[in-house]
Amino acid sequence: MKKENKALKQPDRRAEVGIVMGSDSDLNVMEETALVLKSFGIPYEITVASAHRSPKRAAKFAASAHKRGIKVIVAGAGHAAHLAGNLAAYTSLPVIGVPIDSSCLQGLDALLSTVQMPPGVPVATVSIGKPGAKNAGILAVQILALTDPNLAKKLETYKKELAKQVDQKAKKLKDHSG
Ligand code: RP5
Repeated sequence: MKKENKALKQPDRRAEVGIVMGSDSDLNVMEETALVLKSFGIPYEITVASAHRSPKRAAKFAASAHKRGIKVIVAGAGHAAHLAGNLAAYTSLPVIGVPIDSSCLQGLDALLSTVQMPPGVPVATVSIGKPGAKNAGILAVQILALTDPNLAKKLETYKKELAKQVDQKAKKLKDHSG
């Protein structure tokens, strides 16, 4: 088993977040989402379904997600990325879209395809590529934390740690100044 896949291994619990990507070639981006969920102890499932190449599989995933215990869907796709919007059409669960920088346009195409949803069918779109995939994980945690006080506490600690890291960086720079 590859090192990254080992890191993604999760406890045998019912998945609360469904991560879907348009192709397995998106995995190196979408594993950022998985790593965040793992670090917060949230069970997730991860699979491939394409809005264009396997529209039936994508629709089935979304339509059955709520019944399977999924509370948030994170969908990553590149090129003319219709995956997140397509899933949102088949479920009323919150859908977070990650535009993937896999095309010649470096994700600008995927960003616009994901974010520009018609009124009535939102996709919470994050930034392009790995930073967006990481934020998608954090946003999913924030949604789940609304009904989970333990998770909310973990998020508070996470935010404090972020601020601490900035303080440490500022201190380092101060030590450098003449
Ligand atoms: C999109 O096309 C996928 O999400 C992926 O980003 C891109 C390329 O897919 P592959 O040709 O690598 O399968 O649908």
